[in-house]
Amino acid sequence: MITNLAKFGLLFAILDCASSYAFAEERILPVLDEPIQPIPFDSSLDPAKVALGEALFNDPRLSKNNSLSCASCHILEAGGDDNMTIGTTINGVPHVINTPTVFNARYNFRQHWNGAAESLPEQVDLVLRNHMEAGSNWNELLTKLSQDAVLVSSFNEIYAEGLTRENYLDALNTFERSLITPNSRFDQYLLGNKAAITEDEKKGYERFKEYGCISCHQGINIGGNLFQKFGLFYDYFAERGNITTADYGRINVTNKESDLHVFKVPGLRNVEVTAPYLHDGQAETLQEAVDIMGKTQLGKTISEADIELLVMFLKTLTGEYMGQSLAAKGHTIAGANHGSDTSAKQGSTDDESSLASSGGNGS
Ligand code: HEC
Ligand code: HEC
Repeated sequence: MITNLAKFGLLFAILDCASSYAFAEERILPVLDEPIQPIPFDSSLDPAKVALGEALFNDPRLSKNNSLSCASCHILEAGGDDNMTIGTTINGVPHVINTPTVFNARYNFRQHWNGAAESLPEQVDLVLRNHMEAGSNWNELLTKLSQDAVLVSSFNEIYAEGLTRENYLDALNTFERSLITPNSRFDQYLLGNKAAITEDEKKGYERFKEYGCISCHQGINIGGNLFQKFGLFYDYFAERGNITTADYGRINVTNKESDLHVFKVPGLRNVEVTAPYLHDGQAETLQEAVDIMGKTQLGKTISEADIELLVMFLKTLTGEYMGQSLAAKGHTIAGANHGSDTSAKQGSTDDESSLASSGGNGS
């Protein structure tokens, strides 16, 4: 029951949001009034579910031939992606699209470059059935896992119904929700520590707003909350050539002509450690990615000096996982742990593109 007093309290809390920061399940923190919000510290997750979900994330039995787990392509020590242009699939052939990071994916309004998955659990469903990622199905997976007495008892300890599709998704989803990277220097700055970033980095952030990057990259993930056409001012695809089905973007999901080359604006947290960039992995450095953004999304040629400032700002977005900066390890790991070809380019897998680019509707 909400008393009148409590209603007033709520009203004040809402009014107060202009100057302070509130997030449903988290504590309220003061924050600079900026279009980017810090990552909240989330202490609401059940540690037993997180641990079980972590085991599932690392379990290669996910895939039909027991060759790949989520962690094969999403290497947490490498920034949550695979550091490859285009990663490899269960059969060793190249995927059709660059692997995005799993860190902070919970803050994306949709999952996948084209937004094919509405939620994290739905995304796992796509992974399982995608012939390039797990190539399996629920029956097969649950049958395989139910032969593992230790795993089954872990499920029984947490869930009344034990190992079921729903509980598998719940545990994995809980782990994914724990994959957040708070405490970046930029977040510290937003939370009031003016000295957390340098003058040049501050200038970089000013440029980020002045150029209008902020109109697409904002919110908690500095992206992840909008769809936008890639190539508003400049036909990126005509210049690059070799167009694949994956390049069509969101039209693969909606069949709407207006969604041609439309992608989810990617979040920019930890971009320092998630090279190469763009859905095709064709930008090897942040400088390149920023230069392309200027031309394609803003119709501007950004000067080299400003590109450097923008990149300095982007590097303040590197956060911490379990108290350790992602930059500490992220730089050193090159390529994925399941393939040696780090330069696999797109173009040779056209016939497979439609499956993965539409989120792997390989059911
Ligand atoms: C073979 C490599 C591979 C495997 C295995 C894999 N992924 Fe991915 N993951 C990808 C690729 C590639 C994409 C991008 C797909 C797209 O956008 O069409 C992706 C996208 C995602 C996204 C969306 C991120 C975003 O910003 O849109 C999440 C979340 C994710 N994967 C989690 C998982 C989980 C959980 C598992 C295990 C159940 C898993 N992945 C297994 C390669 C893989
Ligand atoms: C009109 C919307 C829009 C604007 C403005 C915009 N971006 Fe982007 N940005 C996108 C989209 C969409 C992508 C994904 C493109 C793709 O690969 O398909 C992207 C991708 C990126 C990437 C690569 C991220 C990754 O993980 O691969 C970086 C870095 C980036 N943008 C930085 C910037 C900067 C810096 C600016 C300002 C100079 C900017 N963006 C302006 C929409 C925008």
